[in-house]
Amino acid sequence: MTTVVVVGSGIAGLTAALHAHEAGADVTVVTKGALADTNTRWAQGGIAAVTSPGDSVDAHAADTLRAGAGLADDAAVHVLVSAGPDRIDELVRRGVAFDRTADGDLARGLEAAHGMPRVLHAGGDATGAEIQGALGTAVRAAGIEVREHAALRDLLVVDGHVAGVTLVVDGATTELRADAVVLATGGAGQLYAHTTNPAGATGDGIAAAIRAGAAVADLEFVQFHPTALAVGEPFLVSEAVRGDGAVLVDDDGRRFAFDAHPDGELAPRDVVARANARAMAAQDGRPVRLDATALGTERLAARFPTIDAAVRARGLDWSRAPIPVTPAAHYLMGGVVTDLDGRTTIPGLYAVGETARTGVHGANRLASNSLLEGAVFGARAGDAAGRPVSDGWPVVPAVGLPAPEPVAPSADAPPFSRETLQQLLWDAAGLIRDGDGLDRAAGILAAWRAAGAPSSLEDDNLLLVAAHVVDAARARTGSVGAHFRSDAPATAAAGRTSAASISSPSEALAC
Ligand code: SIN
Repeated sequence: MTTVVVVGSGIAGLTAALHAHEAGADVTVVTKGALADTNTRWAQGGIAAVTSPGDSVDAHAADTLRAGAGLADDAAVHVLVSAGPDRIDELVRRGVAFDRTADGDLARGLEAAHGMPRVLHAGGDATGAEIQGALGTAVRAAGIEVREHAALRDLLVVDGHVAGVTLVVDGATTELRADAVVLATGGAGQLYAHTTNPAGATGDGIAAAIRAGAAVADLEFVQFHPTALAVGEPFLVSEAVRGDGAVLVDDDGRRFAFDAHPDGELAPRDVVARANARAMAAQDGRPVRLDATALGTERLAARFPTIDAAVRARGLDWSRAPIPVTPAAHYLMGGVVTDLDGRTTIPGLYAVGETARTGVHGANRLASNSLLEGAVFGARAGDAAGRPVSDGWPVVPAVGLPAPEPVAPSADAPPFSRETLQQLLWDAAGLIRDGDGLDRAAGILAAWRAAGAPSSLEDDNLLLVAAHVVDAARARTGSVGAHFRSDAPATAAAGRTSAASISSPSEALAC
């Protein structure tokens, strides 16, 4: 029987585990926290899929490609959107109770850069929690072994083939052998001083894959969500709130988003995030405001109960006054390079969800395509990983830009700390970058790495992924999608596709 280890327990990991199990494999899920401690659990807006007669795979694909700013991969996008309806059926079968209209149809929300309402949600804005709960129950019911509080240290690779993982459990390192390993550890939002991600988003799977020699790509494409609450700890205020009619205003009450894009607040996420950053810069860094007052008390509480509670817990009443919001790191479009079944460049190693770089997101992910990505590519990777190992391993081509010239370690790097690293990335590799800042950051990161590993495994992982993010951003000398360089704002990016360009010509003028 094929043995499979799935590392990570969000939608991508648990879907992969269920599919590998149903394909006949002996599956173990390992996760560094409790089973439900995942990014998925925090997802609010929902999951995008074609589920209405007025919608089509072509329309969803066109929106995905447009948001991806010319760098999304056509074939990957087609797989993503065409498999969406089946994966929604599967989630419903596994117990996910999506919100429905009074006549029993699926309720569909509108989010930025979607041509029509197609975002399914559950519990109003608790979609991720609902999916996490249903998949966790399904995994337990299937009898799949779950090892919680087991942190991935490294991949075991024997004769060029993955042979399992090493784990840290209660401070001790142990081995877990397997024929196939699926990395589903999410992204690395903790690279940044401000993030919507939970504490566990430290790039563990990506770092382990890099150490094992797997190809990674597109790490310069970090998505910043436009609207995190700017009071207390950053807390996501879903794009669905803008889809429902909320607008962004500056200190003068002016709707500034139309300066950047004709779709205003519903422009692609990278455009709105930068518009917010620029508006904040123009008012000495004070947060912009999200005005949701037109939605009214009852609608806000019923449609967005989680956000409503978070807003009110901060002493704000968003039914009466606009609330302060700011961009925050949210999602990594790049990751471990895979084919359309999650296979990486190392035989036996798969990557899915935010850990993977499938090409579906290009330079900027369309809202609510992330849960869909986890469901679609988790299923495909699980199906593939569960099959007998004798099935062979295709060549998975590495993509991405060539690495830039290395930078010498900086002689005046500050001492390493998690906070210093996060501020460095926020300042130098954040929403708006430039070559000098990136080179300086690369020098500091090189000095920290030369000084030896930080004391914690998570910090070590963050430092390694940070060095790759910064190098990827140095290599891409033009602006495209979420990667915006103020030293080359209007330049089409050098890259592997010809269609790269900035998302909105007016943005170049505004810089
Ligand atoms: C949101 O609800 O705005 C986030 C959804 C996403 O990340 O796509």
